[in-house]
Amino acid sequence: MRTVVLGSDHAGFALRRILTTRLVDLGYAVSEYGATDETAYDYPDAAREVARRVSKGEADFGVLICGTGIGMSMAANKCPEIRAAVAWNEESARLTREHNHANVLCLGARLIEPDEAVKILEAFLSAAPSMEPRHVRRVQKIRELGECTGAPST
Ligand code: RB5
Repeated sequence: MRTVVLGSDHAGFALRRILTTRLVDLGYAVSEYGATDETAYDYPDAAREVARRVSKGEADFGVLICGTGIGMSMAANKCPEIRAAVAWNEESARLTREHNHANVLCLGARLIEPDEAVKILEAFLSAAPSMEPRHVRRVQKIRELGECTGAPST
């Protein structure tokens, strides 16, 4: 069974519950981290929980939701092997999965409607990383940036 871990702050709490229900209906194993209601919650704490699990291979995908999706993506991308991307429509979700091999989908609950968020999630989950050499090469270059020291590339 494919496993998805979801996390949100307070701004993403309601949408996280909606997406969790949809994922369970689709047959995914799901676990949730972060806000337990709409009381203020620091988004990097949920990003860390989700990113660590995806990074360690304990989950196939992560979904992180805050007001914009942006803070979550910044935080999650600090973890090794995490490629967290904000998507705002089905096309951006599909492309970031195919071209960037994104493994964490970030959503902005204050910027998209719940129905659209469900469609974006489904587009992300049904796409697959493209193994075309140019995409594989570029994703490898992202990996190597994990060792970036500020020195110019040769
Ligand atoms: C919370 O008010 C908001 O700053 C947060 O949800 C998120 O949008 C940060 O990127």
